[in-house]
Amino acid sequence: MNRFDFCVPTDIRFGEGQVECLAKEIEKYGKRVLMVYGGGSIKKIGLYDKIYEVLKDFEIYELPGIEPNPRLTSVEKGARICKDKNIDVVLAVGGGSTIDASKHIACAAYYDGDAWDMVLDRSLVTKALPIFTVLTICATGSEMNPGAVISNEETKEKLEISSPLLYPTLSVCDPTYLYSLPLVQTAAGTADIVSHIFEQYFQPNDGAYITDRLSEAALATCFKYGPVALSEPDNYEARSNLMWTSSIALNHLFTVGKGGAWSVHPIEHELSAFYDITHGVGLAILTPKWMRYVLSDKTVKRFAMFARNVFNVNEADDYKAANCGIDKVEEFFVELGLPKTLTELGIDDRDFAKMASEAVRTSGLATRSYVKLNEKDVENIYKMCL
Ligand code: NZQ
Ligand code: ZN
Repeated sequence: MNRFDFCVPTDIRFGEGQVECLAKEIEKYGKRVLMVYGGGSIKKIGLYDKIYEVLKDFEIYELPGIEPNPRLTSVEKGARICKDKNIDVVLAVGGGSTIDASKHIACAAYYDGDAWDMVLDRSLVTKALPIFTVLTICATGSEMNPGAVISNEETKEKLEISSPLLYPTLSVCDPTYLYSLPLVQTAAGTADIVSHIFEQYFQPNDGAYITDRLSEAALATCFKYGPVALSEPDNYEARSNLMWTSSIALNHLFTVGKGGAWSVHPIEHELSAFYDITHGVGLAILTPKWMRYVLSDKTVKRFAMFARNVFNVNEADDYKAANCGIDKVEEFFVELGLPKTLTELGIDDRDFAKMASEAVRTSGLATRSYVKLNEKDVENIYKMCL
């Protein structure tokens, strides 16, 4: 097992009704709150009114309208409010997009230059306002990690900003908020969780046995409860298991003792940067193709192990077991109702070369990923998705 540091400072308040804790906890940092949210789902489920009821003694300013694939322009608006109104706390109410925008706002509030500078040079993140979150979709794990993914619509870049200063101080995870999710968001969110686990599982493992077994349990949880959440949206057991899995899937627990750069995420981020598609939908299309592309004598043992341990595939031959596991992953995404091809989304090959070059340039794909991929490889994977 490799040497590692593990420190997750986020206070998680999990379960129905936990939103009530916000007044007491936010008060420790001040009374002036910037509430950040998306296109209005929190109003439909009564959460907006609930926040006002809980924070009745606070001075609340609002930044609504955070886009899925949150944009730099929204971050700039939020940072301006923080500076003008002397905000004490940023409160994100929503999903990964809202939380990510809030994280960037929290540090941009202390920066006088262009907020995009901080994405390109993380050393500029030197201070951040405390970030509180109320999670309404489980997918990204942003509620318990230090990363935020921001889109620059001008340059068509979608890049991550990350700093230990951006861990949320406290996150409320109430599974009942997930009941109202549109089916496609439940499905895409589940695909995102699964992909986060894969990105860490499909890495060389020098003896981190525990990390692989935990990852397999988390994958099995998604495969069991994803379809249940779709057919019974208000099934608390399914929603709560998926919600907790999403948080631990990307708080670095599944990287402990291992390492390496991610593969499918940088390839997908170009798709959502160029075509503004839902992140989890892109991942569901790409993942089985990536798996088939990188399957080789070098990787077959790990793919076979995955198939046997997670899907109980009873196949002695490693290649047969591995392929059976990949088939099952593909079937799972189809069962969730997600598309299998980019063609179904109206995407053709015109931008593939550009996207492949950006994916390689902005990530560790060619240098540190499980199977190193150059621009041609990435382009081939996009083509397999047509
Ligand atoms: O905007 P509203 O009206 O709230 O609607 C949202 C949005 O349309 C809706 N929604 C959320 N909760 C709902 C709901 N609708 C009904 N009932 C509810 N309870 O769902 C839609 C998607 O929301 P969004 O926040 O975009 O989803 P998600 O959590 O999947 O976030 C995706 C973003 O996070 C990034 C992705 O790239 C993408 O930009 N990621 C962030 C990561 C991180 N910070 O660690 C890692 C991930 O790999 C990912 O890249
Ligand atoms: Zn993701």
